[in-house]
Amino acid sequence: MSFNNNLDQLYRQVIMDHYKNPRNRGVLSEDTVTINMNNPTCGDRIQLSLKVEDGKVVDAKFEGEGCSISLSSASMMTQAIKGQPIEHALKLSHIFSDMMQGKDYDDSIDLGDMEALQGVSKFPARIKCATLAWKAMEKGLRNQSEAE
Ligand code: FES
Repeated sequence: MSFNNNLDQLYRQVIMDHYKNPRNRGVLSEDTVTINMNNPTCGDRIQLSLKVEDGKVVDAKFEGEGCSISLSSASMMTQAIKGQPIEHALKLSHIFSDMMQGKDYDDSIDLGDMEALQGVSKFPARIKCATLAWKAMEKGLRNQSEAE
């Protein structure tokens, strides 16, 4: 019981840290894929810019307005995919989606801070907040690989 409480508290701290000190906030200027996406349930929005070279996400930044869940998730997502091959970024997105749906997910990959959001799966109304940035990333990378 106290273990769970401590873990919840730790996760909450990780989420608030990403919300208050977002990683990779901003807009990339050149040679980028830009994706705008909004959460239809609340109207909050995110703009994601990705720089992809030789099948790798070499840089990622985001801007937008939203709740602590959506913006911390965007911060964690950009942190997780930077420097990764496209396939790995898409795989992380798949794992994150499974986690949000409360399914068993592939735990062979270290998810780092992303794990702090796993409790969101218990709050269906917030799942779209957590997946907004990931959906934008998937869209951008799929468009990019189709264009190549
Ligand atoms: Fe709008 Fe979470 S309430 S993104």
